[in-house]
Amino acid sequence: MKIETVEHYEELSRKAATIVAGQVSIKNNAVLGLATGSTTEGMYSRLAAMHREDSLDFKETVTFNLDEYLGLPPGHPQSYHYYMHKNLFDHINIPRENIHIPDGETEEPEAYCSWYDKKVEEAGGIDLQVLGIGTNGHIGFNEPAENLQAQTHVVDLAAETIEANSRFFRSPREVPRRAITMGMGSIMKSRKILLLAGGPKKARAIRDTVKGGVTTRVPASFLQLHPHVTLVLDREAAALL
Ligand code: GLP
Repeated sequence: MKIETVEHYEELSRKAATIVAGQVSIKNNAVLGLATGSTTEGMYSRLAAMHREDSLDFKETVTFNLDEYLGLPPGHPQSYHYYMHKNLFDHINIPRENIHIPDGETEEPEAYCSWYDKKVEEAGGIDLQVLGIGTNGHIGFNEPAENLQAQTHVVDLAAETIEANSRFFRSPREVPRRAITMGMGSIMKSRKILLLAGGPKKARAIRDTVKGGVTTRVPASFLQLHPHVTLVLDREAAALL
């Protein structure tokens, strides 16, 4: 694992955007795996600025988002569809048909999840997967468990995740209990992985990811087995390393 520690969130966002922009520029039809959450907002804002000011071109880029809440319509302000359009897609020249985000309203989740994996495969797999990390070490919505799943699947959210994500909703009761997430297999098959973490609440999860054993209790610890992982951390997230 390559670990880059920076001072501030702004620097973290700049570094992350530079890595993603590099992938987009080096390969016209780059396939990006994208994450949501507050950590990635600054990176998306930088990428939008790079498109506006430096003509960073997304016209052949293909994207697959990691996850989506089940039961939220795309127009819901807390849906990941809404987040991605607001933070990135509305500001760049990516063709709408190149964007893939799990459908939180699907009526046949199992068939839908297989279809999603097939689309990733047909696109040639993911060149660069961007990840955030949950306070409990989850990636995407692959929550700590006895067993982890390789394929895209429906998951029951952990109590810590509902609690952590309730800051975006009016009350914890409004946080959806289930989500669709890409599985560990799709993430681990990505050719490169970029994980971002900032703030003191992530320090324990980062320590367990980097220094602990590989365990399904800390899904991000599986990244130790991947040959091309870069972690960009701020000082607080890196404090226990
Ligand atoms: C959600 C997403 C994850 C993300 C995590 C961290 O749970 N499903 O993909 O990594 O939030 O979010 P934040 O960056 O807001 O801490």
